[in-house]
Amino acid sequence: MCGIVGYIGEKDCFPILIKGLRRLEYRGYDSAGVAVFDGESTINILKKKGKVEDLLAFVGKDIPPGSTGIGHTRWATHGPPSDVNAHPHTARFGRLAMIHNGIIENYESLRTSLETNGHAFVSDTDTEVLIHLIDEVQNRTNASLSDAVQMALKEVEGAYAIALVDASEPDMLIAARKSSPLVIGVGEENEFYVASDATPIIEHTQNVIYLDDEEVAVMHRKKGLIIKNLQNTVITPEVHALEMQIEAIEKGGFQHFMLKEIFEQPNSILDSIRGRVSVSRSEINMSGIDAHWDKWNAAQRIIIIACGTSWHAGMIAEYLFEDFARIPVEVEYASEFRYRNPIIRSNDVVIAISQSGETADTLAAIKLAKDQGAHLFGVCNVVGSSIARETDSGAYTHAGPEIGVASTKAFTAQVTVLTLIALLVGKKKGLLSTQRFSRLLVELKAIPDKVQKLLEQDARIKEIAGHFVKSENALYLGRGVNFPVALEGALKLKEISYIHAEGYPSAEMKHGPIALIDEEMPVFFIATADDVYEKIVSNIQEVKARGGRLVALVSAGNQELKQLAEFVIEVPKTDQALAPLLTVVPLQLLSYHIAVMRDCNVDQPRNLAKSVTVE
Ligand code: AGP
Ligand code: GLU
Repeated sequence: MCGIVGYIGEKDCFPILIKGLRRLEYRGYDSAGVAVFDGESTINILKKKGKVEDLLAFVGKDIPPGSTGIGHTRWATHGPPSDVNAHPHTARFGRLAMIHNGIIENYESLRTSLETNGHAFVSDTDTEVLIHLIDEVQNRTNASLSDAVQMALKEVEGAYAIALVDASEPDMLIAARKSSPLVIGVGEENEFYVASDATPIIEHTQNVIYLDDEEVAVMHRKKGLIIKNLQNTVITPEVHALEMQIEAIEKGGFQHFMLKEIFEQPNSILDSIRGRVSVSRSEINMSGIDAHWDKWNAAQRIIIIACGTSWHAGMIAEYLFEDFARIPVEVEYASEFRYRNPIIRSNDVVIAISQSGETADTLAAIKLAKDQGAHLFGVCNVVGSSIARETDSGAYTHAGPEIGVASTKAFTAQVTVLTLIALLVGKKKGLLSTQRFSRLLVELKAIPDKVQKLLEQDARIKEIAGHFVKSENALYLGRGVNFPVALEGALKLKEISYIHAEGYPSAEMKHGPIALIDEEMPVFFIATADDVYEKIVSNIQEVKARGGRLVALVSAGNQELKQLAEFVIEVPKTDQALAPLLTVVPLQLLSYHIAVMRDCNVDQPRNLAKSVTVE
């Protein structure tokens, strides 16, 4: 959801906070604010509805001095985006300031009891309630600020990552988390950064500590760092070295992060395969599978839990696991699974897929499955993320940081890794012939070059996109492994261009959506060569007969559909099981160009956030 950044050290913190907020703006972007402590008596709070740029315009030349501060980009949950609801929020007449990512679920009852004790609130947020609660606890107990934070957090239900500054503690910055991400950067001596992810930290230090749930970190300019949990036990922090490169979080000459990330796919897919596949030895090595082979071998069922685009990757994996490894698979929306009293057995393997590794629904579903004894396997992109740490084992997708809110390269990396897992499990179970396994490895290795070939068609895809800029609806149809690609194509279009789009299995169209087809309706068919190609041609005829505007993704060399469709996009040939890694690419580009031509902010589409850390 939102982005949090904080600094304590010897440097002027305002520029550090602003740069950090710019880096984090992809996480939430309806308002922005900072609190800078001048080190003597005043915490200057500057906050504004809108983007970080709006905040900067508001601040103008009056840059607040100080070397302790916090900053926030908001994704509103409680109260609309407004100057007042923007963070930081304060208590004690502005002498205590806090930023927060997450939701305090019991905020209403807390607010009522605080009001009874004389606290007054100016905003609609749950955050303001929490900072007043901390204040109240400190007044009531006379405890130190960090102890008061610990005590107050015990009363809180919900999710939080917080950072706060206190005008009576000039050398202190406090941060804590539960179910929302928080990373501490360890800089020069007694200099600390805190942020929702490593992107604002990377240019200052490579040394980071991932805070765990219910831990409170006190960063002190003179005394250094102390971490305790809510039970007051001191935690010895583990310092990790960041491997991220600064270039990976910059646009590198592209107009948008999304376009850059689409174009990175030949490399990101290669990175997902790298070190795991040996074509010459016909081998896949994945330590997360090998080390827990007893669980996989005994698995009677695989349950896949995920949300959004990651769920689509899971849908593709269902076809692959059933085909290669003959294990029944259920693919579940994490948000439904967690509230459904699902049947989970100890011989189930549960795969959680998440780019961010922080999605609240997926995390909650993991905890539920874990409590019931299943083996948990994570497929995450963000190293050190909560889901990566909560699962028993896993495989990173290695797509590199994905900044565009609409997921592209993370999706193809997920599909690549899931394909590898399905192949490996199928082979180890003796269900895939050596020939088929080897052939698929060779094909997989060839995918990055084929994606590159698709990207070379960008200008033509842009031209096709130009014909659909004014559409208000779109239908995406595919079958087999390309059905989830149709869903993904539709999701990409709607989230960034705000065109209503639906994905369907193409044969299912005649059971309802066919009623929507008229001369205005674009229908994107994924019709690459596979076992059901002929059936799809019949579905295309059905749309054609009703005047729909046809765009067909076909295997290179296909002549038949050139006669039928208004536009044809040729996709390099591959094994049908691997088709999604190619067919999704033109759909990403089409959505991107349509959205840009509609003047939409593709990297920060309205209402969305990159990492959905609330329910
Ligand atoms: C993708 O384009 C979306 N913005 C969204 O559906 C996303 O895939 C979903 O929120 C899941 O996120 P995760 O992979 O980080 O768990
Ligand atoms: N719940 C808080 C609010 O509505 C924080 C939201 C966020 O994570 O940005 O302001």
